[in-house]
Amino acid sequence: MASPLDISSIRADFPILDQEINGKPLVYLDNAATSQSPQQVLDVSARYYKEINSNIHRGVHKLAQAATAAHEAARETIQRHLNAARPEEIIFTSGTTDSINLVTNALTLSGTISADDEILISGLEHHSNIVPWQMLCQRTGATLKVIPVLDDGSLDQNAFAELLTERTKVLAVNQVSNALGTINPVKEMIVAAKKFGALTLIDGAQSIPHMQVDIQDLDCDFFAFSGHKIFGPTGIGILYGKHALLEQLPPWRGGGEMIKEVSFEKTTYNDPPFKYEAGTPNIEGGIALAAALDYANAIGMEAIADHEHTLLDAATAAIQEIDDVKIYGTSSHKASVLSFRLDGVHHYDLGALIDQMGVAVRTGHHCCQPLMARFGITGTVRASFAVYNTESEVEQFISAVKKAAMMLR
Ligand code: ALA
Repeated sequence: MASPLDISSIRADFPILDQEINGKPLVYLDNAATSQSPQQVLDVSARYYKEINSNIHRGVHKLAQAATAAHEAARETIQRHLNAARPEEIIFTSGTTDSINLVTNALTLSGTISADDEILISGLEHHSNIVPWQMLCQRTGATLKVIPVLDDGSLDQNAFAELLTERTKVLAVNQVSNALGTINPVKEMIVAAKKFGALTLIDGAQSIPHMQVDIQDLDCDFFAFSGHKIFGPTGIGILYGKHALLEQLPPWRGGGEMIKEVSFEKTTYNDPPFKYEAGTPNIEGGIALAAALDYANAIGMEAIADHEHTLLDAATAAIQEIDDVKIYGTSSHKASVLSFRLDGVHHYDLGALIDQMGVAVRTGHHCCQPLMARFGITGTVRASFAVYNTESEVEQFISAVKKAAMMLR
């Protein structure tokens, strides 16, 4: 079915897409790694530096006031997009990794995690939702537990139910797997974890670009995502945290802005969110991220997801025409990620060869080495689709893979 969206006019918003790579039109299918930014967002970034660049919350002059107002307006846009209860629950970070490290470090410093406690993550996690928890466990003596992954790339919900106990202090899982595209039933998992009094953190890096997230409906304690996965800049991200928790937890980084009063004897801390925002933030990045969310909302998150699903279905059907192809991640609930391997062909060789034909995909372990080990592989080729991709690009991708398979086998 043809998309009700005018994809060619959406595409025209993204200047980077209009170029040739190795003499071929660029087919950009590495959106799960980084999405591209529309002119509307690039203009907001440029305008910030051309017109109001200055430091926030610190100056009485006009530029400082304009930058502060734009920064705080961006926080409110992000709050509305997530349907969070209040803007103070939105913390600017440098990205998902930074957001998760903020939580793990604040929890470690809080002294509330002990050697008897367990942290529950899943086998689908990105290294950024594994390693910070391992570091917390090393420092507190807590034990890391892992929800196993089934053959279709979904989480074993029976095993999850058994792993949850009174000892479970935190459940930290992704809403969408970056490597396989699986959409996890996080709402139900949060309800189950809360019955045991566990805190819940959702890694939303791969869900935020593909679905409407409603924080109050999810009712998680923390939610992390990055700007560059949803048409925004790199180096900016968000940590949502429930206000009561943000008030209770200690700050992780010290410096300017996170204080109320400093003397050499004693420092008192600012209120959330500022307590967690030491130092000059990525001001332009936050404003541009809000513009990126406005851009996505103007298209509509549902319309974006529908179009991406059409592309995913077409690519999934077409790739299976190739001999000895194996798709990793075959759950019926998937976002727009197609991860696969061709028997007898190394994923790097395939990725490098189709790059010669203008097709950009990601190859390797996708920062998910334990997940790759679960499937007994070292990596996959991953095509990931965004709203500006077209059915014709899916065809170019498939024909490039077919050509490469013939050359490499
Ligand atoms: N986490 C990003 C990816 O999946 C970098 O490619």
